[in-house]
Amino acid sequence: MSQRSLELIAGNACTALADDIARELSVTRTKARVGRFPDGEIDVHIHANVRGADVFLVQSTSPPVNDNLMELLILIDAARRASAARITVVIPYFGYARKDRKDEGRVPITAKLVANLLTKAGADRVLTVDLHAAQIQGFFDVPVDHLYASPVLVRHFKEQRIEKLTVVAPDVGSSKMARGYAGRLGGELAIVDKRRISADKVEIGAVIGDVAGRNVLLVDDMISTGGSITEAARTCAQAGAISVRIAATHGVLCGPARERLRAAPVVEIVLTDTIPVDPAGLPNLTVLRTAPLLAEAIMRVHTEQSLSVLFNRPE
Ligand code: R5P
Repeated sequence: MSQRSLELIAGNACTALADDIARELSVTRTKARVGRFPDGEIDVHIHANVRGADVFLVQSTSPPVNDNLMELLILIDAARRASAARITVVIPYFGYARKDRKDEGRVPITAKLVANLLTKAGADRVLTVDLHAAQIQGFFDVPVDHLYASPVLVRHFKEQRIEKLTVVAPDVGSSKMARGYAGRLGGELAIVDKRRISADKVEIGAVIGDVAGRNVLLVDDMISTGGSITEAARTCAQAGAISVRIAATHGVLCGPARERLRAAPVVEIVLTDTIPVDPAGLPNLTVLRTAPLLAEAIMRVHTEQSLSVLFNRPE
């Protein structure tokens, strides 16, 4: 057992998830004020002694992205200046990840910039779930534990015993992920040919693979404006699918997403709670808990145990 105390502190992005993690760990969340000064600046005060402690800061960098990121940076600074022995940032949803390379002239690589900011502020380790691109781990020069939400989602769909299942990737980028789900759920694989026209508009081409007469499960790492997955759902329904379900780890749900999801021809929408999701107006929404996964990872980091078991466990 570690000699250091485990201190779990949360920003405002995902307090319910942080409470759930605390319950799983049987610890009380360390009290901290993460408020605002009258001019909008972020006001942080950790109310307990964390000197020599193993500090875990839980914060998704979900919308409002800049506020949540800044809260996290200031929390790191506060913990570092309070002489924490080690600071692990637990970022269930890592935002700013979609710009992970220069694909045209004069654009930033925000995923790298955010990695630099976090480590410069004083983060010693990172624990995160389903990065938009796994190689973002390499943008950090501190250890990154990259968890997958797939065991949580696969367990849910296994319980449904869906027959004639085809797992569909809503774009080529998600095909590896979809292949993994198809393998674990015993389904076939299909891929939708998607072209992004603008930040919130996509154009769908052909479906590569069979969806007619099949129960379709569309899987993606995130639903942002909902364009990709709902257009893909519509295409599969029009192509003769018996039913369409959609699943994603991170429900960013910005702009027209909720409206698009409401109108989509789907029997179930499954998300995890890496980002808080308001179920209002989405009667076919299921939100799955990630706290058991995150809590076990935190305990393993705290007690210096391997995390590999979390990747190889049968669902
Ligand atoms: C794309 O690379 C991602 O995996 C998602 O498909 C995409 O970010 C979803 O965005 P939206 O919901 O706005 O179509």
